[in-house]
Amino acid sequence: MQASALLMAWRVLGLLLICSSLGERNQTPNLQDIPHLQLVQRQLILLKSTPKNRTWDEAKQKAAEVVAQLTVPELNDLLRGSHFAMSGSPDVGYYVGNIASIPRLQIPALKMQDAAQGFRPTEPNTGGTTTAYPCMLALASTWDEDLVNLVAAAIGTEFKGKGANVILGPSVNVHRVAAGGRNFEYLSGEDPHLGFRLTAAYVKGVQEQGVMAVAKHFAFNEQETHRMTMDAKASERTAMELYFAPFRGAVSAGVGSFMCAYNKVNGTYSCQNAELLKKDLRGLMDFQGFVMSDWLATHTPDALAAGMDQEQPGIIQLPLGAKSAVLTDKELNKVDKHIREAAASHVLTAVYRMGLDREPGCTPPNCTQELVSDQTKATTRGQRHEEIAFHAAASSVVLMKNNGLLPLTKDKVRRIAVLGEAAVDETHRTYVGKGSGYVQPDSSAKTPLAAIEERAAKENIEIIRPDSHTPEEAKSLGGTVDAIIVVVGVDASEGSDRTSLDLGHKSDHLVKAAASKAPTIVLLQIPGAVLMPWKGEVGAIAGIFMGGVATGAAWASVLFGDKLPTGRLPLMMPETINDTIQIGENREVDYSEGLLTSYRSPSFKAAFPFGHGLTYTTFEFSGAQQTREGCQAAACVEVTVTNSGKTAGEEVVQAYLHFPEPSGGDEKWVKSTPAKVLKGFHRTQELKPGQTETVLFNFAPEDFTLFSSERGWVEQSKVTVHLGASSEDIRQSLPVEPLS
Ligand SMILES: *[C@@H]1O[C@H](CO)[C@@H](O)[C@H](O)[C@H]1NC(C)=O
Ligand SMILES: *[C@@H]1O[C@H](CO)[C@@H](O)[C@H](O)[C@H]1NC(C)=O
Ligand SMILES: *[C@@H]1O[C@H](CO)[C@@H](O)[C@H](O)[C@H]1NC(C)=O
Ligand SMILES: *[C@@H]1O[C@H](CO)[C@@H](O)[C@H](O)[C@H]1NC(C)=O
Repeated sequence: MQASALLMAWRVLGLLLICSSLGERNQTPNLQDIPHLQLVQRQLILLKSTPKNRTWDEAKQKAAEVVAQLTVPELNDLLRGSHFAMSGSPDVGYYVGNIASIPRLQIPALKMQDAAQGFRPTEPNTGGTTTAYPCMLALASTWDEDLVNLVAAAIGTEFKGKGANVILGPSVNVHRVAAGGRNFEYLSGEDPHLGFRLTAAYVKGVQEQGVMAVAKHFAFNEQETHRMTMDAKASERTAMELYFAPFRGAVSAGVGSFMCAYNKVNGTYSCQNAELLKKDLRGLMDFQGFVMSDWLATHTPDALAAGMDQEQPGIIQLPLGAKSAVLTDKELNKVDKHIREAAASHVLTAVYRMGLDREPGCTPPNCTQELVSDQTKATTRGQRHEEIAFHAAASSVVLMKNNGLLPLTKDKVRRIAVLGEAAVDETHRTYVGKGSGYVQPDSSAKTPLAAIEERAAKENIEIIRPDSHTPEEAKSLGGTVDAIIVVVGVDASEGSDRTSLDLGHKSDHLVKAAASKAPTIVLLQIPGAVLMPWKGEVGAIAGIFMGGVATGAAWASVLFGDKLPTGRLPLMMPETINDTIQIGENREVDYSEGLLTSYRSPSFKAAFPFGHGLTYTTFEFSGAQQTREGCQAAACVEVTVTNSGKTAGEEVVQAYLHFPEPSGGDEKWVKSTPAKVLKGFHRTQELKPGQTETVLFNFAPEDFTLFSSERGWVEQSKVTVHLGASSEDIRQSLPVEPLS
């Protein structure tokens, strides 16, 4: 009750803030003129500082020494937060999460802020003082670890500039239901291998800036419906092979913290689930840092014994005046001291491993100066960060269909109309999803129409601005324009799932009307999978999974070929709603489909398959073979990629493994083994027409294993490697023998 009242108040306040802060649009430098990749590469080097880290063992030892010196109140204060800054709250000078400092032991304050898409300002009138980077799902569609790492590093420096030392992200859950309300926030898309690699890249990028990352939401927070009470029932195999993978990626990158989820797993709340937190996370995954609860997800002091280490937000004023915390001093003092000390030692181990004590920065509530600072104007970062946000957004554009209309050139089109309310939406509601992951785009944001218009002018292509965005308007354009661009947006928010995958009647009619009169290009600003019943009628379709502040600029650069399309679908675009997993409407949600979600399901039909994405050229694959000489991995496979088209481009070569005779379980187990699982991907360099690149995949022994509850990870002796440009576009296949 308290929790839902608080969250409701939070959401309403957030909404008010969003609505009240639509400032003027300023003139910004022309992004098209800058050689982005070079710039970005230079920045990659510049951004990386090299803090001297303690090893986990050294950090653990120091933590043990310090814990022994803590008084009881100090010990308790490490185990729960106090204060909770949110839009309109009285907690000025504080962060979303706060752990008090202990100056006599040089323990720094922990200053935690939302979230993975950028720093979410919570001080009054500070909207737009940080960069709204592309959402995590847009980063997933770049299939580019270096770029994810760069964005994360840039975000890390903005957190530092704002005085924070903990980022409440990345959010990494593998999507299960297509309409999941937080899918836009989840970096894995629908795939565990993609999630593992991008999560590791993100965590490293942030933590190298001296900001601790928090992998969330552990685990099975795959839908928002009943998220506070929902009980996920999943088999151990489903957990191991599918949903835990990105979390393992976070651990492999040395993540400092985990956030346990609101929901229950197997009947027990995540934050008090010893099976999840002790056996799986600390045991199997060998996690060394600490576990904090999601905000108001702590239900009992017993959570500490079950593996949670810190309650958040802890002792706070609720909007109605009441104080909230499960771990009050009274309750904490009833918990065995060894358990409390173990939890505090986990917290401090992460603090020392990250070196947060060496750079303590401001101490709340004396952080107002940092909190109100404008990171978009900070001399060391402002312009650079705008470039990174733009480069990432442009790199995330997925070109799903193109009958040759794109790129737009003067010889193809002279007059284009731009339609759709999203083309002129100054509220940018389809640039960033709502909830704790929301970051308000600053005044550099251009609408798609403004950005396209500006770029078209250079080409002497005329842009027609319609009077309205109705199907009638679209039809009236027949014969007067060479092409119509229709921009369609869908928003999403934490706290509720989308009610359908439709773009809405209005939008679908608009697209159909346009397509009936002129070659039509559909641009989608979407938070996840959508249905495109008109896909056969239009000339081109491209999507951005919420591209942040540079969404408009990204469209302009890709449409006119300044930036070659490089994005790939991190999810399957379903043919119909029945080609997806539906939201669980009951309190108990049975993951009975096991591993068979997305492209792994034999019964789902794709409108556009997982991994799909066109560019302005084509590629041929040849000479796939297993190479034994010099191979240091369990198996090495190479394939040659040739640009067979007329313009430059990058290919993302994908390796899907097929186990023809899965061994390790019974017949039912064999049947529930997907026919194809992604176990490798490699982005080529930009290849000129005729140019080739030989791509090498080094498979690790664990790539050839399947999980059985009886036998653990079982090595598979028969393996087929499929190499392709998407999960359905397989170009070369070969049997591979793991070297032993
Ligand atoms: C859930 O419970 C089942 C039955 O006891 C068990 O086999 C499975 O491993 C549990 N799943 C998780 C993710 O812990
Ligand atoms: C510091 O620690 C982080 C996180 O564990 C790691 O990614 C980074 O490479 C380390 N930096 C150095 C210089 O060791
Ligand atoms: C904040 O600043 C005031 C004034 O300098 C000081 O008295 C107070 O101790 C500071 N608070 C913390 C938590 O450092
Ligand atoms: C989806 O499946 C349901 C139940 O089988 C069926 O009633 C419905 O017509 C299907 N919808 C589509 C679009 O195929």
